[in-house]
Amino acid sequence: MDFMNDYDYLFKILIIGDSGVGKSCLLVRFADDTFISSHISTIGVDFKIRTIEQNGKRVKLQIWDTAGQERFRTITSSYYRAAKGIVMVYDVTDGESFQNLTMWMGEIQKHGDKDAVKLIIGNKADLEDKRVVDYETAKNFADQHNISFLETSAKNSYNVEKAFDKLAEDIR
Ligand code: GTP
Ligand code: MG
Repeated sequence: MDFMNDYDYLFKILIIGDSGVGKSCLLVRFADDTFISSHISTIGVDFKIRTIEQNGKRVKLQIWDTAGQERFRTITSSYYRAAKGIVMVYDVTDGESFQNLTMWMGEIQKHGDKDAVKLIIGNKADLEDKRVVDYETAKNFADQHNISFLETSAKNSYNVEKAFDKLAEDIR
């Protein structure tokens, strides 16, 4: 039935970051509570919805998952403007994906709403033996840019719920 809203707030959220960092896996973990172990590169954009409850309010999150591959950049950049929250993801085992956060912030500046709430996520925190980006380095970087920061694992669920909760809270 359409005449009654099933939510109090609706927020559009965008996930960006290099190909392979785990953007789709984070979204699938958050929306469906499952994990995909193969890398099926996202083509263009895709979205999922989940409604959470915060302080007695139903907060509906419409989360847009973008392709990290450069050839989709023109398509994906057209989704920035509507986003109230933007999650930038890197992979703690991939130094280049962390370096590229500067480029991703440039994309937000170019295409995004200046009031969009940002969050940096260092994903694959379960792969401790393969880690190349330490927590402190990333935390300092995020602090310098005044952006919230969390490490997550889409594989073992670490901080995934907390990340989207925090973002929704920061938007409200
Ligand atoms: P594009 O769609 O190409 O931009 O990539 P993506 O960022 O969506 O990456 P995707 O979610 O498809 O994950 C890439 C690979 O990393 C897959 O093989 C996942 O299983 C793996 N992966 C994602 N998250 C984690 C994690 O938290 N831990 C571990 N160990 N592997 C992960
Ligand atoms: Mg993907």
